Amino acid sequence: MDWILENENNAPAAVDDTWEKLRADCAGCMNCELGRTRTHLVFGVGNEHADVMFIGEGPGEQEDLQGEPFVGPAGKLLDTMMEIIGLDRTKVYIANIVKCRPPRNRDPLPDEQAACIGWLDRQIALVDPAIIVFLGRIAAMAYIKPDFRITKEHGQWFDVAGRRAMAMYHPSALLRDPSKRPETFVDLKSLQQEIAKLHA
Ligand code: URA
Repeated sequence: MDWILENENNAPAAVDDTWEKLRADCAGCMNCELGRTRTHLVFGVGNEHADVMFIGEGPGEQEDLQGEPFVGPAGKLLDTMMEIIGLDRTKVYIANIVKCRPPRNRDPLPDEQAACIGWLDRQIALVDPAIIVFLGRIAAMAYIKPDFRITKEHGQWFDVAGRRAMAMYHPSALLRDPSKRPETFVDLKSLQQEIAKLHA
């Protein structure tokens, strides 16, 4: 098998991978304990050839019930955030670091993330986005750097395996603390400029 991409987290993506193969491999996953308590595995949604990918932390209650990422209150805010810069779910791909809901919405544990992230690596390789936006500290720590500080480093651009990458506050954090919203507006405008460069 030929390998084309390898990042520091995980398994390489194969050139012969396909969405069908990935969905089949991932369905019924019991790589970690979260598989025992889920209602639905939340695979991901959106444009499979998007320029921009949003990566959150893990499914919450509504996502677990409906099997789709960001469909609860945080998801409604994410939709609004995207709308501000002309994006919607048909234009981006949305997924999470872990595909099953952690009990009581706790942070996914390092071993749960490690067990799951290979699926996400394959999604990233298949979408092949130019830009990745990490929503919140946990997602940014998994791909940008383990000591990522969301309060200091949100809105900054990084290189992640040759892709432009930025973290924003998680929409749940913006629901809890609306005073962070002006900073997020600036980050969204920066994202909009970065997208515009792709088509310049
Ligand atoms: N929070 C996340 O990080 N992901 C979701 O899908 C929903 C809420």
